[in-house]
Amino acid sequence: MIRKLIAGNWKMNGSLEANEVLVRAILAGVGTPGCDIAVCVPAPYLAQVAGLLKGQQSVALGAQDISRHAQGAYTGEVSGSMLRDFGTRYALVGHSERRQYHGETDEAVALKAKAALDVGITPIVCVGETLSEREAGQTDDVVRRQLAAVIHENGHCITEIVVAYEPVWAIGTGKTATPAQAQQVHAVLRSQLHAASTAAAGIRILYGGSMNAANAAELLAQPDIDGGLIGGASLKAPDFLTIASAA
Ligand code: 13P
Repeated sequence: MIRKLIAGNWKMNGSLEANEVLVRAILAGVGTPGCDIAVCVPAPYLAQVAGLLKGQQSVALGAQDISRHAQGAYTGEVSGSMLRDFGTRYALVGHSERRQYHGETDEAVALKAKAALDVGITPIVCVGETLSEREAGQTDDVVRRQLAAVIHENGHCITEIVVAYEPVWAIGTGKTATPAQAQQVHAVLRSQLHAASTAAAGIRILYGGSMNAANAAELLAQPDIDGGLIGGASLKAPDFLTIASAA
């Protein structure tokens, strides 16, 4: 069985003071977890959170984005080697908020995944359909197209990625996909990964979208749900820890 991954995506939330309280509470309650755990923090706080996580193995550091470029004249961007300098293990790529508000295309997301892999950071590749795409019956096509770009660019090391299925209509809305809805899409993604790699059974596919302390256990019990990408509930230590123990 795959070791599950529970990753918190803090999005654009936090402060020096709040981060310290949150990370200390997570570390105090986490014990010896039965799953992998990560917190994906805003870039300015990587150094702070790296310091807070130092000397322990239970919680890993993640970033929320990564430049597709290695270095140079790209004002405002953060490179993979910069993330590495702070011990970053994971980087979200292609979150729907970046696709939507920053115009990230499937190809840009695939190149970001490659930039992460190039420096030994695990990309957490986010895919997911909008409400109108779901209502038009396009869900499977949309997530397959999004993942295909990443496989096309990174096929030789596809087992090194993590996939996160985040239906856009479920993010921050309190509307979770039902376990059956999520499992159906995860199975689609799994079979696409199987076609790309004989080792696809070992690739983690996370669910994200209003996952919380109350619904996590049922979602995580689905055969192809290998963890969670948690937004709002990752900002409250008790909720985040409850989700991690459900995994
Ligand atoms: P919520 O858990 O707040 O719905 O956010 C999900 C998400 O976008 C995680 O990346």
